[in-house]
Amino acid sequence: MKTTIRQATEADIEGILKIVNHYAAENLMLPRTAEQVRRVLAHFLVAEQAGAVVGCGSLVQLTPQLTELRSLAVAADQRGTGLGRRLVEALVERARAAGYDQLCALTLQEGFFNSLGFATVDRLAVSPKIWTECIYCPKFDHCDEIAVLMNLTEGETVTAERGSDVSLGLWQQLKVSRMINR
Ligand SMILES: CC(C)(COP(=O)(O)OP(=O)(O)OC[C@H]1O[C@@H](n2cnc3c(N)ncnc32)[C@H](O)[C@@H]1OP(=O)(O)O)[C@@H](O)C(=O)NCCC(=O)NCCS
Repeated sequence: MKTTIRQATEADIEGILKIVNHYAAENLMLPRTAEQVRRVLAHFLVAEQAGAVVGCGSLVQLTPQLTELRSLAVAADQRGTGLGRRLVEALVERARAAGYDQLCALTLQEGFFNSLGFATVDRLAVSPKIWTECIYCPKFDHCDEIAVLMNLTEGETVTAERGSDVSLGLWQQLKVSRMINR
């Protein structure tokens, strides 16, 4: 069956919530309300199959250089069919077209992101996220999510392993801004 990846519209909100909140109930994602999705709908992509939403994902700006991939999910009966990959690839394209240098995600699906070219990095170094929204999360002091990062700029490759010290141009900027925020 043909699946289209496209910009989300108001009519997709219910479908997005159904998928995201299904995984939130399993503690795999944070729950969302219709109002929360509506507010950032312009930054959402959906995967549509025969008129139904079967996947979604969004971008959230953290700094003018760094954007976060958020609310990525594929309907349970469609997992493992390449839809997650297609959504991430479309969001990478969108982030690049918008002029961002880096794309990050906080995830429990490290292997999935690694297979798509994201490097695993020190969670605490993704500073704007940790020091703004994460501090309000109930799981803040026992967060089990892994940070992954992709450089979008030509010629830059992230080679960082979790917890290691990295001296890469763009990545270094994140570490510096974390120290300032402390
Ligand atoms: C994570 C998720 C979006 C992946 O989407 P998907 O459609 O199931 O994954 P795909 O079929 O596109 O897989 C793409 C590749 O990643 C690999 N992959 C998928 N999940 C993986 C995992 N957990 N570990 C390692 N590799 C994984 C696949 O084998 C595939 O590799 P290939 O292209 O070499 O065959 C989906 O499983 C999901 O919705 N999970 C629940 C919600 C969630 O955890 N979202 C992430 C929030 S950040």
